[in-house]
Amino acid sequence: MAILLLLNQVDPTILETHLKSLPSCPEVRTYPDVGNSEDIECVVVWKHDKGVLNDFPNLKLIASHGAGVENILSDPSLPEGVPITRFVDHTLSDQMAEYVLAGILNHRLHLTYYREQQAAAHWRCRDIVKGRNVTILGMGELGSTTARLLIQNGYTVSGWSRSEKDIHNVKSYYGDDQLIPSVADADYVICLLPLTPATNGILNIKLFNAMKKGAYLINVGRGDHLNENDLMDALAGEQLSGALLDVFSTEPLPKDHPFWRHPKIHITPHISSPTDKAQLARQIMENYHRMKDGKPLKNEVDPERSY
Ligand code: GLV
Repeated sequence: MAILLLLNQVDPTILETHLKSLPSCPEVRTYPDVGNSEDIECVVVWKHDKGVLNDFPNLKLIASHGAGVENILSDPSLPEGVPITRFVDHTLSDQMAEYVLAGILNHRLHLTYYREQQAAAHWRCRDIVKGRNVTILGMGELGSTTARLLIQNGYTVSGWSRSEKDIHNVKSYYGDDQLIPSVADADYVICLLPLTPATNGILNIKLFNAMKKGAYLINVGRGDHLNENDLMDALAGEQLSGALLDVFSTEPLPKDHPFWRHPKIHITPHISSPTDKAQLARQIMENYHRMKDGKPLKNEVDPERSY
C-alpha cells in the first residue's frame, strides 16, 4: 500500500523526506510515477488536475497539502465517499497573523513609500496612518490567531463569520445580514475566509462602498474572493486607500496583469502562510493510521460547508 504525492507548483521532495522519516510510513510515490494504481490508499494533493483522483480504485483518504480545499471540492469527478482532510496547524496561523500585522504596519508607517524615497534620495516625512480598527472576514483558526496578535498590538478587532463566535475582545458579526455592518468602522479589512460558492466574489464594490473612505484591504484568502475590477474602481475613486494582495485568481499572477504596476497595490506571491512540511507529514501519517484503524480523522472537511 502507498501514499501518492500529487502536488502541482510545490516541490514534493521535502514532504517525501519528512514522511519517510516517520515510523511505519508506507511506501511514498510521487506523481506521475504512480506504479500500480491499485496500491494507492492515500493521496496528498495540491492544485491537482481534475479527474486524476479517479485513477485509484482503493483510495481511502485525500489529504490537502494546505488549509484551502476549494481546488479539491471543485473537481467534478471527485471520487464519492472518500474523506478529505485539510492542514490546520499553529505554524500556518502564527505566520499568517504576523503577515497581516506586518501588512498593516507597513501601511500605517509608509514603509514602502520610504523605500521608494530612498531610491531617489528624498527626505520626505508623512504622518502615521491613525486608524486601528480591523475587521477580519473569516474567524476560523487563521482568523482567530490573527485577531489575538492584533489585539496584543493595540488594535480593535471585529470578526465576521458564518456563525456567531465567542472570542475574547472580538466583536462577533455573523450571517449574510451582518456582513455590511461588520466593515462599517474598519480601517483595515482582512479576508481570511475559505473559498466557497457563498464567499466567491465577496470582496466587491458593495462591500468596499460600505467601508470607511480610505480603508485598506488585505486579501490572504483566495484570489476568487476578490472582484478585481471592483478593486480597481474603489482605488481609482479613493474609496480604498490601498490593498495588500497575497492571492490571485490566476497564480502566478500573469506578467501583464494591471495589479503588478498599480501604485496602491502591494503584491506578495502567495507566501502569507506556507505549509510546514514536517508538521504536514505528521498530520498525514496520523490520519493515515486513523483511517487504517477505522478511527475518526482529524481536520476532516465537511463537503456541505465546503471547508
Ligand atoms: C494556502 O494557501 C493554504 O491553503 O494552506
